[in-house]
Amino acid sequence: MEKNGSLKGLAQSLQSMTDVETLKKEAGIAACKYVRSGMKVGLGTGSTVKHTVIELGRMIAEDDLEIVGVPTSLATEKLALEVGIPLVELSDVDGLDIVIDGADEYDPHFQLIKGGGAALLREKIVAQESKAMIVVADDRKRVDALGAFPLPIEITPFAHQATIRSLGRLLNCRVNCRMSGDNAVMTDNGNMIADAHCGPTISAPEAMEKNILNIAGVVQVGLFNNMCDVVVLAGTNGVETFVNPNGRIQ
Ligand code: A5P
Repeated sequence: MEKNGSLKGLAQSLQSMTDVETLKKEAGIAACKYVRSGMKVGLGTGSTVKHTVIELGRMIAEDDLEIVGVPTSLATEKLALEVGIPLVELSDVDGLDIVIDGADEYDPHFQLIKGGGAALLREKIVAQESKAMIVVADDRKRVDALGAFPLPIEITPFAHQATIRSLGRLLNCRVNCRMSGDNAVMTDNGNMIADAHCGPTISAPEAMEKNILNIAGVVQVGLFNNMCDVVVLAGTNGVETFVNPNGRIQ
């Protein structure tokens, strides 16, 4: 009886993982409607936007789409090359037309938490250089207030424990060094990640971003304020597009 119960539980959790994966794929593919030939496109990082990257590769191969991409991580660079997206260096172009990326949370003001995949620094540089930012997500990412997802902060390896203590004092919450087994997670830039357990209470993300960036050992924080123009969200109602009324795409 117990065995049957646990098998049923396993089957249910496998089903829900499949459902989430389907939603991610739907959102990732739907966002490609914003990409046109001739564009320079920022390619985000994560399990949702990977579907965007794969679809853009298909559109290049089958629909004559002509774009160049700038990846936000080594993982995305590898995938983009595998699916045939020509890449350029961000330093060699004068800005990007658009970036499509995932998010860990977004609030009603289109403010984001990103960095669950440790790519926040490159993601933020690419977003900053883009004329528009499209976020792809499943509906678990929509929140009333940011912060239930631990806030990722990229920090220097030098004196990282001191920086983590400073962050704890500033934010008045638990801050952990992100680990993979016994080793600290290292970013593509050779830095570490501190995760701040702020609670779902970040009501003033712009002030918080500035205060965190004031700490010398902080390289970047995963608060993406006033950057997101559109969220392409997949949920039980299908794919919905939410346009930021204060954004650059109307
Ligand atoms: C990478 O550092 C993150 O910012 C991702 O974009 C974010 O974690 C969303 O990833 P998923 O689509 O895998 O949830």
